[in-house]
Formats: sequence, C-alpha cells, structure tokens
Amino acid sequence: TRPIVIAPSILSSDFSRLGEEVAAVDRMGADWIHLDVMDGHFVPNITFGPPIVKAVRGASAKVFDCHLMITPCDPYIEAFAEAGCDVITVHAEATTHLDRSLQAIKATGKKAGVALNPSTPEDAIAYVLDRLDLVLLMTVNPGFGGQAFIPAVVDKIRRVKAMIGDRPIDIEVDGGVTPETAPRVIAAGANALVAGSAVFKGGTPEHYERNIAAIRDA
Ligand code: DX5
Ligand code: ZN
Repeated sequence: TRPIVIAPSILSSDFSRLGEEVAAVDRMGADWIHLDVMDGHFVPNITFGPPIVKAVRGASAKVFDCHLMITPCDPYIEAFAEAGCDVITVHAEATTHLDRSLQAIKATGKKAGVALNPSTPEDAIAYVLDRLDLVLLMTVNPGFGGQAFIPAVVDKIRRVKAMIGDRPIDIEVDGGVTPETAPRVIAAGANALVAGSAVFKGGTPEHYERNIAAIRDA
C-alpha cells in the first residue's frame, strides 16, 4: 500500500499572495502541492501556466503535482516540466493519443499521471497502466473549487485499485474532499487526496494547519 498523501490545491488560495500561500501549506502539513492548470477550452475556467508554476517553485521543496486541464496538452508538457512540475497529469479526454502524451511526459524525466472525469470509464487507462505513476479520479466535474463530491466515483476507485494490482501507482482523488468524504475514498483504495476549499477555508496558516490535520485524522 502507498503512503497517504494530502495535496492542497492552490486554486482555493489567495492568488495575490501565491508564493506565501504555497509556503504556508508546505509548513502546515501538505505532502504535495496540487496545481490546477485550466485553459478555458477543456474546462470552463482559466488559471495559470508555466511562468506562474516557475514563479512559485522556490516557495516549497515538496512535490509539485500538476493537473493539466488543457487541450491540446502535448505542446506544453516540456514547458511544465521545465517550470518545475514533478508529476504531470493529463486528462484522458483531452488528448487523442494518450499513450503518446504519456511517453512525452516520461521523456522529460517527470512522473506521469492520467486524470479521468467523473463520467469517463476506467477502461480508458487499461492499456497504458505500465506507463503510469498516478491515476487521478475526478470526484467533481473539473473547472472550479468548492463543488459537491460525486459519490458514484467511489466504485470507480475500487475498480482502478483492482486494475493496477501491485504496480507502484498512486490513486489520487480530486474534488469535494473533506473530513467527511476522505474516509470513503481511502477505504475504496485511494491514497492521495487533493483538497482545495477544505484546506484554504479560514484564510490563515493556522486554519490551514487545522484543516489539513482534520483531513489526516479523518
Ligand atoms: C477542480 C480542480 C480541483 C479543485 C478542488 O477542477 O481540479 O483540484 O481545486 O477543489 P475542492 O477541493 O474545493 O473541491
Ligand atoms: Zn485538480
């Protein structure tokens, strides 16, 4: 079994102080930093690109877990690798040639992940398992923080867990993760939890510490 990881999503942080926010969650118990990249095309929201990732890279030495919600994704993989992402996750729905996109990530020396929207069956990853370091199962429709957890995905976590067998692949869940939903996804086989609003609510480093601890204790 893989170590449990809590990855605060900086989407819910104060972007006017992004570097400080990254440093704060690092100090207050984050295992990884989750960075949501949105293009206004694959998802109905726009966030940031490689220059911002690069700008905050110095604020934390922890794993930068980059969730690319962009199409096309292949032309930007190298730029995100150079900006300092450690894990690069692309959506199966956002690339026509998923195997090629994963090879492009591996060619940069970074870890490769695939994300699946709530409605996407787990079969999408059946023939790329040996290229994967991480599977990201969305428990909301991607685009925004603060949405409600979609419980139907819990069964998909179980199926993905069975598919990956003893391969060293993290199962990450993203969307609506709280102290209430975290135990359900962990019980189903997830080991990495992304949490945005549940970590950043309150808005101070003391809140982040309590919020991260509440998820971990749950
Ligand atoms: C949604 C993003 C998530 C988001 C989660 O498209 O991928 O990472 O920040 O936010 P919460 O935890 O508030 O649902
Ligand atoms: Zn995300």
